[in-house]
Amino acid sequence: MKKILWLCPILMIVFAVWVLIRLGFTIWAAVLIALLLVCPAIIIYGLITVSRHRGGFSPETLHTRGMPLDILAPIYDRYCPAVGLGLAFRQKTLGFAELKPGDCVLDVGCGTGVLTRLADLAVGQAGNVVGIDPAAKMIGVAKKNALLQESRAEFRLAVIEDLPFEDNRFDCVLSSAMFHHLPPDLKVKGVSEVHRVLKPGGRFVLVDVDRPTVFLWWVILWPLLFWSFTEDQVKGRLGVLMRRAGFSGVEKVGSWGGFLGFWKAHK
Ligand SMILES: C[S@@+](CC[C@H](N)C(=O)[O-])C[C@H]1O[C@@H](n2cnc3c(N)ncnc32)[C@H](O)[C@@H]1O
Repeated sequence: MKKILWLCPILMIVFAVWVLIRLGFTIWAAVLIALLLVCPAIIIYGLITVSRHRGGFSPETLHTRGMPLDILAPIYDRYCPAVGLGLAFRQKTLGFAELKPGDCVLDVGCGTGVLTRLADLAVGQAGNVVGIDPAAKMIGVAKKNALLQESRAEFRLAVIEDLPFEDNRFDCVLSSAMFHHLPPDLKVKGVSEVHRVLKPGGRFVLVDVDRPTVFLWWVILWPLLFWSFTEDQVKGRLGVLMRRAGFSGVEKVGSWGGFLGFWKAHK
């Protein structure tokens, strides 16, 4: 299986070239565009793979069979807007969360805490927002940014599959671009942990890789169908995962860039 996976980038480029030629591009233009489209994905996948095998590069990073992202921590805040996940994306996510002053919010897999700090602004003085992540370098950057921006958001090292919080504590749980970092069994465990820590009636807002709605993304992302971390998501099954954990009112409420889906559910 691993040998087939290594063929995927080459097949992706060949397939993209073929599609682009059929769309009327010259062969050189098609090769150039295909490389531009596919190479960043390959580089990111390579970095993540190295990160996993080197235990996240940081001795304090918590053990998880998910993928902690220490390796991107130093550049993550510049990387996100560069790939289209800037302020507008964060505001759209928070829009679905419908946060009110006084809400208690958890951001699972918070990374450098951009969304966590915006959530903190939304809940005001009376509220409380916590971001968790196993990657020590991500949490380090999140704490530093919180200090610089005088945010009251709290950040802790923790994993979604074993949340260090009591039952029924949060009004809302946010998960942004994190689920594709988990193998299938941790996704099941993680969603049930989110259900446990939410108050009855609490909201779960999840945005992640989803069934592409734009053909071009199928051309680029089809290899993800062969990777257990993303297969179920590319097939559009995030909603099934939430329903199985006991959530109600599960709904796909929006999409972003043709391959990210916003899901919302209630406990
Ligand atoms: C792509 S980043 C998303 C960060 C942030 N939520 C955002 O929207 O920018 C995914 C994050 O999930 C974290 N992660 C990986 N495995 C995890 C786990 N088992 N539990 C919680 N977070 C995890 C990674 O360390 C990384 O910071």
